[in-house]
Amino acid sequence: MPGMGNSLRAAALLAFVVLSILVSLLISSVQQFGARISYFSNATVAGDEKEFASLRGALIYQLNERRKEIIPLLLPVYDDDDDDDDDDDDENGLPGESRHSFLNDQTQDSILDYSLWNEITHGSRKAHMDDMDCDSLVDMQAVEILGSGYTKLVVKVNLAGGQSVALKLVNEQGIDMGKCVEDYRDPRGCRELVSYKLKKEIVLLQRLQHPNVIKLKGHCAGDAGGGEDGRVTVILEQGNPLQMIQLLQSPWEDRFRVCLDLVRLLHFLSQSPLGSVALLDFQPRQFVTVSGELKLTDLDDASAKETSCQMDGDCTLQFPHRNFTLPCSARGVCEGLNEKRNIYNAYRYFFTYLLPHQAPPGFTHLVDHIMNSTGELKADINQTLEAFEHILLLYKSGLHLDHLPPSIIRDYTMMRGMRTSGNAEYRCWPSYSQQGCVLSVHSAREAAFICNSHSQCNSFSLTGQKTWTGRLLASFRSSFSHLVPDGTSEVYVKKPKAPEASTV
Ligand SMILES: Nc1ncnc2c1ncn2[C@@H]1O[C@H](COP(=O)(O)OP(=O)(O)OP(=O)(O)O)[C@@H](O)[C@H]1O
Ligand SMILES: *[C@@H]1O[C@H](CO)[C@@H](O)[C@H](O)[C@H]1NC(C)=O
Ligand SMILES: *[C@@H]1O[C@H](CO)[C@@H](O)[C@H](O)[C@H]1NC(C)=O
Ligand SMILES: *[C@@H]1O[C@H](CO)[C@@H](O)[C@H](O)[C@H]1NC(C)=O
Ligand SMILES: *[C@@H]1O[C@H](CO)[C@@H](O)[C@H](O)[C@H]1NC(C)=O
Repeated sequence: MPGMGNSLRAAALLAFVVLSILVSLLISSVQQFGARISYFSNATVAGDEKEFASLRGALIYQLNERRKEIIPLLLPVYDDDDDDDDDDDDENGLPGESRHSFLNDQTQDSILDYSLWNEITHGSRKAHMDDMDCDSLVDMQAVEILGSGYTKLVVKVNLAGGQSVALKLVNEQGIDMGKCVEDYRDPRGCRELVSYKLKKEIVLLQRLQHPNVIKLKGHCAGDAGGGEDGRVTVILEQGNPLQMIQLLQSPWEDRFRVCLDLVRLLHFLSQSPLGSVALLDFQPRQFVTVSGELKLTDLDDASAKETSCQMDGDCTLQFPHRNFTLPCSARGVCEGLNEKRNIYNAYRYFFTYLLPHQAPPGFTHLVDHIMNSTGELKADINQTLEAFEHILLLYKSGLHLDHLPPSIIRDYTMMRGMRTSGNAEYRCWPSYSQQGCVLSVHSAREAAFICNSHSQCNSFSLTGQKTWTGRLLASFRSSFSHLVPDGTSEVYVKKPKAPEASTV
């Protein structure tokens, strides 16, 4: 590539150094430390070299294994022998046969895929005009660490244009790196090995595009000639790590959204371009939210492998408190194993915590049914999605509120274009506002029903603000001192009760 790109790349690398210092990764000292261990231990020189060579061999074996894991994820290309990745040293082990076992018939005949592979491995050539690459990272500013795990470190950065993105890098302090360096004493080789998880993630993010999968904005690979072999940075849309504790305190509507998004994701994964995909490491920390929408961000443990079997007994799913046996199909694979594994994990990590608690009274039987059919693996993902979408439809339409008497609203005087001021507020739970009592309602009628059920409530207003389902935010108050004009608002004030024992 031209020298221009190299100098920009150099600038990007410089930026990385700044970043590294900022997050005190001490990359270079780790590197030096590792080098000392490999070359200057007090064993004899001959013995050391022998040991080093065998460790190196073992590491190269591992690197090849990781590579083989990724190849099947690239869509098949016609296997002519003139792939032009000549600058790669040990390239011979790309098996053509294992690819097909992964893939369905509806594969596209695209040759983009080896170019994607070469891109990830050797450079950052843009596949599309709007993809980001190493040049996009020039002059970026690190803002904060968003998270880290066994393998990866995720940092929020502001790009030169002002946009915020999340960068995923190898976590130099992570368990993966630590174990590898301990085993192979080769920080550079280990960085390359761990980077394969990022490469796999890039391929999966390209293959599994969905509203509930984090958006891949681009990536940047270290140049093989630049002394940066195998290093990879993934550029992602920035989200907020899922906070289960916070979510437990949120309105049911928001908790339902997370579960619905998860089910939509699992429905997609059950018939993805790669086949039925299982998330082997299925935990809340693999997800983030972007404007309230759930997105899967950790894909390196996604697997499209099918389990082969001879009898049903070969198809077991084991969980800490439950085991399941699934049917072995006529073609000798466990039917729906990946899909069912995902459903049960969704049940045990998400639904049990988020769904039943404070569900609207009209939905309790529907929610109970979902809990039972997912907890017992009685429903497939299609049926589960249907049950969720049914609840959403009822919730949006307000059909579940049919039992509320229409007359209930007659207890209130309505004033359009007004807002209350000098309010005496009271709190309720779970409120959309910390100070007062703000709840979502389908209509003034539902709000009136809620106000009647709160002993402190004397008035409520509909502000015109809406939740993600389109329901209205209503603010409930015990009293107010005066009204002020506000075009978008409506105020409802409880009519004074007629004095008792008056004339009838
Ligand atoms: N796009 C993003 N926006 C905000 N935070 C993110 C984003 N991607 C990941 N994170 C956070 O960074 C953490 C680590 O990312 P990731 O799960 O990919 O790393 P990992 O090393 O595979 O972790 P684990 O050991 O949990 O598998 C995540 O738990 C998540 O909280
Ligand atoms: C050198 O090797 C000996 C025996 O193999 C060991 O006891 C000693 O701790 C080693 N010293 C250092 C500095 O590693
Ligand atoms: C699940 O199966 C395993 C292996 O057969 C067994 O050890 C375990 O006790 C079973 N667990 C439950 C909850 O049945
Ligand atoms: C499902 O319902 C059955 C029958 O009521 C009950 O025995 C079982 O415990 C329920 N399972 C779950 C996971 O809720
Ligand atoms: C699930 O729904 C999809 C379409 O959304 C359909 O192609 C598939 O056959 C359905 N699976 C089952 C088991 O009904």
